Amino acid sequence: MTSPGCELSGTLLIGIDIGTSGAKVVLVDETGDVVAESVREYPSYSPQPLWSEQSPDDWARAAFAGVREVIERTGTRPGRIAGVGLAGQMHGLVLRDAHGELLRPAILWNDQRTGPQCDAVTARLGLDTLLARTGNAMLPGFTAPKMLWVRDHEPDVWRRAASFALPKDDVRDRLTGMRAADVSDASGTALFDVTKRVWSDEMFADLDLDPALAPDCAESCEVIGAVTSEAARMTGLLAGTPVVAGAGDQAAQAIGAGLAHEGDVCVTIGTSGVVFAPTAAPRIEGQGRLHAFCHAVPGMWHVMGVMLSAGGSLRWYRDALCAEFAATSRAAGRDPYDDLVAEAAQVPPGADGLLFLPYLTGERTPHPDPLARGAFVGLTARHTRAHLTRAVLEGVGFGLLDGLELVRGAGVATASVRVSGGGARSPLWRQILATQFGVPVVTLAAHHGASFGAALLAGVGAGVFEDVGMACDRTVRTTQTNGPEDSWRAAYRDLHDTYTSLHGALTPAFRALATR
Ligand code: XUL
Repeated sequence: MTSPGCELSGTLLIGIDIGTSGAKVVLVDETGDVVAESVREYPSYSPQPLWSEQSPDDWARAAFAGVREVIERTGTRPGRIAGVGLAGQMHGLVLRDAHGELLRPAILWNDQRTGPQCDAVTARLGLDTLLARTGNAMLPGFTAPKMLWVRDHEPDVWRRAASFALPKDDVRDRLTGMRAADVSDASGTALFDVTKRVWSDEMFADLDLDPALAPDCAESCEVIGAVTSEAARMTGLLAGTPVVAGAGDQAAQAIGAGLAHEGDVCVTIGTSGVVFAPTAAPRIEGQGRLHAFCHAVPGMWHVMGVMLSAGGSLRWYRDALCAEFAATSRAAGRDPYDDLVAEAAQVPPGADGLLFLPYLTGERTPHPDPLARGAFVGLTARHTRAHLTRAVLEGVGFGLLDGLELVRGAGVATASVRVSGGGARSPLWRQILATQFGVPVVTLAAHHGASFGAALLAGVGAGVFEDVGMACDRTVRTTQTNGPEDSWRAAYRDLHDTYTSLHGALTPAFRALATR
């Protein structure tokens, strides 16, 4: 980090990530060093069960203030900023009227209200047609079913809707005065022909949606506009600074982890757990269990599995079951996660026959099932906290392995896997993952996530890097490698079969419990 007032030399780039908990802004130099960052939080609202909403005004306020903060804190002359890129939470719906006024709060990716709309469309069109047209199943988190929900439940709002935008696009529209989308984020709308990288006229027609609602769509590193004078006043950027289309957070995060070629695979353990693999051609999984989206690299696609509670499972476990233990750790100046994991290292792989199912907030990959529930299975009186902790780490790992196996089934080679996110900090967890995956796992020197990837895309658009591959090669460095632990392999192979059987076996119980 640079101290206040220290004038930097060389070209700089700005990356903005419109996340779910807040907006992160990074100021990056040409070598990939993050010289300043700002994180500003905003609230989410859940006015009804299953609903998840945010204010697009909060996103823009946080992002613009964050840009101003990193510029002022480093004393950067704005003329040195060659470009701005945005990334953001995918699938969210922002609706505006013909005068550009917001019509309602944004409906987010983790909102689950649109189950009936998804079921109706899937029943009418069939999964095969959806896969052929969009590469993906119609999932409740996606954008199109949100529009159908508004049309069904808020007809007055829907009548006035003249345009829709994804979250980061709404912020970029305010920065540039131009409406646009990018191919990676548009892939998650269920209205996009992922193979041809254009909006799907057939889907708009089938869902009786006006194609004029959609903005033009660009490749992620294309410059689609420039900072307006008004936005310059609010951010401290120079008017005329180029702004690229940017990417959905997962594609941008993958660029930030250096994933530009087929054969690169990354597992990210944040709240959710994502298995991401670039592909040289669209690879559409026959049952739609993997997302098949355009990558933020022109001419590349990616497959992706998303489990909803990965790091989220460990956080729930720490807070719900180990609160007192965590408080003692904190009081002694230690991180409770480190103390819990140190205990877990003392019990054998397989936690003496204890399994954890990480479906605490339902699941997406490999079971697209909002009603799935978490479980400890196999508890006996001899199990201790250390066993429970180990079972949580292993259960999340098995969930990620399920996603990875679908990626392998789609024909993608996985010789090694990069791991990022908070979960990658733990050497024990990395060792468990390497053994479950059966390949080495590799950590990154620094990982600033989607905002960093967005800055690299800006660098490509502004001509700082020739292409995305070069941007990754110049800036992304790997550090440690953990190989599989041979003596644990057999335990994990056997347990994975049992783990895999449990979702089906418990589905009737999940259904019965969901109504209570
Ligand atoms: C991707 C997804 C999430 C959101 C929020 O499909 O739903 O990653 O983009 O981060």
